[in-house]
Amino acid sequence: MGVDGGRHVVIMGPQGAGKGTQAALVAPRLGLIHVATGDLFRQVMASDSELGREIRRYYDRGALVPDELTLRMLMERLDAVKQEHPDARGALIDGFPRNQAQAEALDRAMAERNERIVAVVHIAVPREVLLERLSGRLICATCGATYHRLFNPPKQAGVCDVCGGQLYQRSDDTPEAVERRLAIYYEQTEPVLRHYTEAGLRIDIDGNQPIEAVTEAILAALRPRVEAA
Ligand code: AP5
Ligand code: MG
Repeated sequence: MGVDGGRHVVIMGPQGAGKGTQAALVAPRLGLIHVATGDLFRQVMASDSELGREIRRYYDRGALVPDELTLRMLMERLDAVKQEHPDARGALIDGFPRNQAQAEALDRAMAERNERIVAVVHIAVPREVLLERLSGRLICATCGATYHRLFNPPKQAGVCDVCGGQLYQRSDDTPEAVERRLAIYYEQTEPVLRHYTEAGLRIDIDGNQPIEAVTEAILAALRPRVEAA
């Protein structure tokens, strides 16, 4: 990352809006590294450690993992990204912040690290479309790539196109957990968008279009902000 530290982008939107799908597609084209708090939690849970068991208590029922733990894991990952990808511009942060306290903690962390959020992409999708997307979602157990049984199927059923790993349904894509996740989104996360509107960082994208069209819209909006000196 440059001498002035990272230039990061945040991607927001309700569950099923396509944050993970789009982040994986646009990050490499913008010189950013995709960092998703949900992916960090799924990796820890796969290891069957004490920390993994603690996270699972929140994750499986669709509740938020405590702020302090989430912030610590995100910052550790951002440090690791800096070491592992010294030429990257910054991170594309997916899944954080999810409430006002997290947004304020992120502002403080950026100031301390001499890094910046240069844009916040908000992917908007109507609620009924979200439910359809989540119920058909499949995830690769090895690399985390995202598919959909109907809208974005893998070439071979049950097998990841990218790495050949096995596909599975997420443990929080049950109807009860989805209901709670969406309720938390509209109560706690959506209001955070105001914070970024006031900061002049918010970019709204229509996420109710084919995957490629959403990708192009995000790239067109982000390029000038991310590539600016
Ligand atoms: P996380 O993993 O972040 O899940 P989420 O926010 O619930 O969001 P999703 O991953 O469900 O949606 P997405 O927008 O990424 O959609 P996707 O691209 O997969 O968080 C999980 C949990 O971790 C939380 O509930 C919480 O417990 C914990 N957590 C994480 N961050 C936290 C934080 N900051 N604080 C506290 N706790 C935290 O797409 C969905 C489906 O739609 C896929 O099947 C895809 O193929 C399909 N699709 C995508 N785009 C399109 C399109 N344009 N057309 C048709 N289908 C599409
Ligand atoms: Mg996701």
